[in-house]
Amino acid sequence: MAKIALITGATAGIGEACAHTFAREGYDLILTGRRMDRLDTLAQKLNDKYNIEVAVSSFDVRNRDEVIRSLDGLPSQWRQVDVLVNNAGLSQGLDPVNEGNIDDWDTMIDTNIKGLLYVSRIVSNWMIKNGRGHIINIGSIAGKEVYANGNVYCATKHAVDALNKGMRIDLLSHGIKVTAVHPGAVETEFSEVRFKGDKDRAKKVYEGFEPLVANDIAETIWFVASRPAHVNINDIVVMPTAQSGATNIFRSK
Ligand SMILES: NC(=O)c1ccc[n+]([C@@H]2O[C@H](COP(=O)([O-])OP(=O)(O)OC[C@H]3O[C@@H](n4cnc5c(N)ncnc54)[C@H](OP(=O)(O)O)[C@@H]3O)[C@@H](O)[C@H]2O)c1
Repeated sequence: MAKIALITGATAGIGEACAHTFAREGYDLILTGRRMDRLDTLAQKLNDKYNIEVAVSSFDVRNRDEVIRSLDGLPSQWRQVDVLVNNAGLSQGLDPVNEGNIDDWDTMIDTNIKGLLYVSRIVSNWMIKNGRGHIINIGSIAGKEVYANGNVYCATKHAVDALNKGMRIDLLSHGIKVTAVHPGAVETEFSEVRFKGDKDRAKKVYEGFEPLVANDIAETIWFVASRPAHVNINDIVVMPTAQSGATNIFRSK
């Protein structure tokens, strides 16, 4: 029987790249995100190319009832999840704390912290029943450092860092591995989402240096997921060579 990976936020960027990587390695996949059209297209592509089984489930991770209904609604064989990649997440805005948009704060907190918890609550119980599993949480360099105007996004990713540690402690006796992968600058739809569709502003984030691409993180996640059963990578920070810290990027042009 093929192993199963559940990837949240598989409609773009790192999650989509993970779907390709795990499909290449022969995993059956549960792919989630809000954009159903993208999930369907990706599922078809992966099914054609790798001959794997793909289940898609479209829900907003912020909506607790939707998360429960969608995951509980999957046919029972899909509960044999081996790897959960908690990837769905986003940043909104870049403002000093006294000027921050409160709706943006809610969106980031509800998505990056509460959404990750809703999914993990359900899937960790499946893993406990199965007696195996690996939860891979996508944090950020923003979960290790705080940068100007990054206040709430950084707080949500620090929370992911803390939850990653807490999950490892709580799930230890069940033999479930827990890992955080913390990327630096990766060129995805991330900055476009942060700047609410302002493509020019988003492009500037990656100007003058070579950022990571989604596949660099997907391959790191695969490395983490493919270690022998007795080995757990607790935490890994991956940066572009041109980046040494959250805001320290060497731009040559
Ligand atoms: N790019 C970077 O530089 C960077 C650096 C460090 C950490 N990260 C983290 O990496 C993860 C992936 O980001 P990315 O760079 O790949 O960005 P992306 O290209 O914008 O992809 C984000 C994914 O998250 C999903 N998502 C967002 N809000 C959601 C919601 N409410 N419900 C369900 N799914 C939701 C999106 O799907 P739908 O819109 O279809 O729902 C999309 O598939 C995030 O957790 C991000 O914080 C990114």
